[in-house]
Amino acid sequence: MKLLLAVFTTLSVFSSLGRSSNLEEWAKTLEQKSLELMFQNISPPGSPSGLVVASPSRIDPEYYYHWVRDSALVMDVIVTLYERETDSKKKQEFFDLLMDFANLSRAIQLTPNLSGGPGDGGDGEPKFNPDGSPYMKDWGRPQNDGPASRAVTLTRFALKLIKEGKWDAARKLYDGKSPSESVIMVDVEYTLRHWQNTSVDLWEEVRGHHFYTRFVQRKALIDGARLADLLGDGTNADIYRKGAAALDIEIKKHLPSDAKYILATLDEAPNKKGKIGNLDVAAILAVLYNDATEESETLLGIDHEMVLATAATLIRQFKKEYKINSIEYDHFGEKMQVALGRYLGDQYYGGNHWFLVTAAFAELCHRNAIKIQQKKRVEITALNKDFYELIVDNLHINVGDAITENDVRFQQMVSGLYEGGERFLRRIRYHAKDDFEFHEQSHRDTGFQLSAENLTWNCAAHLRLLDARTAASSTVSAH
Ligand code: NOJ
Ligand code: NOJ
Repeated sequence: MKLLLAVFTTLSVFSSLGRSSNLEEWAKTLEQKSLELMFQNISPPGSPSGLVVASPSRIDPEYYYHWVRDSALVMDVIVTLYERETDSKKKQEFFDLLMDFANLSRAIQLTPNLSGGPGDGGDGEPKFNPDGSPYMKDWGRPQNDGPASRAVTLTRFALKLIKEGKWDAARKLYDGKSPSESVIMVDVEYTLRHWQNTSVDLWEEVRGHHFYTRFVQRKALIDGARLADLLGDGTNADIYRKGAAALDIEIKKHLPSDAKYILATLDEAPNKKGKIGNLDVAAILAVLYNDATEESETLLGIDHEMVLATAATLIRQFKKEYKINSIEYDHFGEKMQVALGRYLGDQYYGGNHWFLVTAAFAELCHRNAIKIQQKKRVEITALNKDFYELIVDNLHINVGDAITENDVRFQQMVSGLYEGGERFLRRIRYHAKDDFEFHEQSHRDTGFQLSAENLTWNCAAHLRLLDARTAASSTVSAH
C-alpha cells in the first residue's frame, strides 16, 4: 500500500510536469561532463604535465594535491580512452598524457619524502604537492595500495603498447634492470618487498593489513609478471608470481570459512575510527578495479559469492543508515537503489553518501549482467542468494539451483541486474546538481553535496560505470 502510494504520488508529479525520465540522455551528458571535468583536474595550470589533483578544493578540505592512488585510478580511465580511440591524433594525445604521467610518477619515485628515500620506502608516500614536491606534514603513511595501483594502470598501458608493436615505449616503462630505473618495475619491486608490512588503508585512517591493499598488490605482481615475461625478464616474472601466490594465502584470511562477508582489515593497529563489523565497501572497489581482464587468474571475480555477499550486506546496512535511502522513487516515479558510503561508522564530514561508491555498485550490477551471460549459468549459493534477490525483483530462487540459459529466471536475472545498475544510476542523478559536478559526498539526511568539489575520482568512477553500462546494454539487447 505504502509502495503503491509512493508510486502514485511520484507518478502524478511526473505527469503534471509532463517530464520523462530519459536516463539515456542524462547518461550521455554525464559522460561528456565527466570527461570535461576530469580533464580540468589533470595537469592544471602551474603543475607539471601528467599530474592529477584530487579536487580543485584548496581549503576545507585541502584536496589540491596529487594522490598516488587517485591519480592511478584516474589514469586507468585514460588507458581505456587510449585503447578505444580510433582517431590517430587524439590517440597520440592520450599516449602523450600517459607518458607524461609515467614520467611524473618516475620523478616522484626519485623524490625523498617523509616515507623514505628512493628505493628505501619513499614509494609508499600517499600524496605530493601540486608542483610535484613532497608533502612535509603529518599524514597516514605509508599507503601501499598507491604504488601497486600505479603499477596496475601503467602495466595495462604497457601491455597494450606491446600489442601494438610499440616495444620501445613499453621498455621505457619496464626496463628489467637491477636496480631498475623504470616506473613500473620500481613499483612492482616495492610491492614485492613491502606486501608483508602493514600500511595505512585507502581511506587514510587505519593501519593494518587491508583486503583492498592486498588485492591490488596481488594484481600488480601478477600483471607485472606477465609484462616481465613479454619483455624477456622471466627470472623476475617468476619471483613476482611467487610473491602473488604467497599473497593469495594472506588474502584468503580475509574470507574465513565462517565469515558472511569479506573482512576489511586484519592486524589492525588501535585507532578511534573503527569500521563497524570490519565491513568496508573497499572490498567491492578492490575486486571491481582489479578484476582479471585477460587470463582467468582471478582469486575472486566480480561474481564471486563472497563479493556478492559483501555487496548485499553493505546494501542492507546503508539502506537503514541514511535517511535519503527512505526515498525509493525518483521524481519520475522510477525506482532507485540505495546510496552508499565508505563504511558504517565513518565520521569524516559526518559520514555520508559517496558518489564513487554508488557508481561502483552500479558498475558491479552491469558487469554481473555481462558475466552471467558469458558463463551461461548461475549457481545459487547460501552466500550469493541475498544479492540476487535484493537486486532482481520477484526472483524465486533457492540455494542449490543451477540456473541456465533456457530457464526463464536466467533472462530475468540478466535484465534485473541491468535494471539494478540503472537504479543506482538514478540514485546518482537524484542527488546530482544541474552542472553535473560532483562533490565527494552527499549528505546522509538531505542529499546535499558536501566536502571536496569536482572530485576527480568521481569523474573516473562515473566513466567506468557508463562504460560497463554500454557493454551490458549491448549484451542484454542481443538476447
Ligand atoms: C580523514 C578522512 O577520513 C580521510 O579519508 C581523509 O583522507 C583525511 N581525513 C584527510 O582529509
Ligand atoms: C579521502 C579518501 O578517503 C582517500 O581515499 C582519497 O585518496 C583522498 N580523499 C583524496 O581524494
